[in-house]
Amino acid sequence: MAGKVERDEITGVETTGHEWDGIRELNNPLPKWWVFVFYATIAFSVLWWILYPAWPSLSGYTRGILGYDQRTELAEIMARVEAERRPWLERIRGEDLAAIVADTDLLTFATRGGEVVFKDNCAPCHGLGGAGQLNYPTLADDDWLWGGTLEDIYTTVAHGIRFHEDEETRDSTMPAFGADGILEPAQVDDVVQYVLSLSGRATDEAAARRGGEIFQEQCAACHGEDGRGMREVGAPDLADDIWLYGGEPEQIRAQIWKPRHGVMPAWAGRLPEESLKMVAIYVHQLGGGE
Ligand code: HEC
Ligand code: HEC
Repeated sequence: MAGKVERDEITGVETTGHEWDGIRELNNPLPKWWVFVFYATIAFSVLWWILYPAWPSLSGYTRGILGYDQRTELAEIMARVEAERRPWLERIRGEDLAAIVADTDLLTFATRGGEVVFKDNCAPCHGLGGAGQLNYPTLADDDWLWGGTLEDIYTTVAHGIRFHEDEETRDSTMPAFGADGILEPAQVDDVVQYVLSLSGRATDEAAARRGGEIFQEQCAACHGEDGRGMREVGAPDLADDIWLYGGEPEQIRAQIWKPRHGVMPAWAGRLPEESLKMVAIYVHQLGGGE
């Protein structure tokens, strides 16, 4: 083959010398545009290797003369955001709740910041936007167990409820009327009917009447004579048809038999002071704040 150039008889174009079943490959030159793009990509990559981080080495990688690094860029952005946030957070730490709420800009900042704190820490129990779920109270309505002023909410969040690692935790213990034998099972059934009657749902009037007497003796001290609840002890309003543990007769009976004594963790010490304030303000702003 050497030296001898074969040409295709019909087109007169040189062939590569490859042949399959009598078909020979023409050695056409590559299109100019293609060759140009090819060289351009090579030039581009060489330029890139020089300017940007490119090749791995044993001890790291070639950094490129621009010194560009997304990690440094991110760190710079974070530092900038942090620097913008710091004065706001310091003001929030220094002011009391009422002053923060009175300042429109601070209030906006606190509500947004509080929303983030809430999503990270509170939503697993209280639901997004404080929507609540069975066993965890709704925070977006105006039905409060322990109180809905800014100060009340702040205290609840900071010290928790029945969270005995915190000495200032909100505390109260509804007795286990059934499990501890304070009431006979039949009496528990009667008082369930009475509780149902408070929201107009009793099915047995006579039992509800008997239950009413037991209620005044055993329950009114915490839930109030009218069953409207008492915030000093976090006793729910039993007449508003809003239920922490469910309003079905079996659910009410289960609570009277052996109460759950729901626990809410204390957040003071876990979250910085400004986050406690912001999340309290956020909850207050959800719609039910007093
Ligand atoms: C592990 C679950 C849990 C988490 C997390 C949690 N809570 Fe609670 N929270 C509860 C329970 C349970 C109660 C009701 C306790 C009771 O009084 O029986 C409650 C009650 C409350 C109350 C009182 C509501 C009222 O009606 O008075 C507020 C306010 C509150 N939580 C805010 C928050 C905030 C803000 C966060 C996040 C920083 C948070 N909670 C995180 C479980 C939780
Ligand atoms: C020492 C105060 C106290 C006494 C006495 C008491 N309760 Fe309670 N009750 C509470 C508290 C606090 C809660 C909510 C806390 C928990 O158990 O997690 C509650 C919750 C309830 C609930 C659940 C309400 C809901 O929204 O799901 C019912 C029902 C109830 N009590 C009925 C009674 C009845 C009936 C009696 C009397 C036989 C009684 N309680 C006596 C403090 C008390």
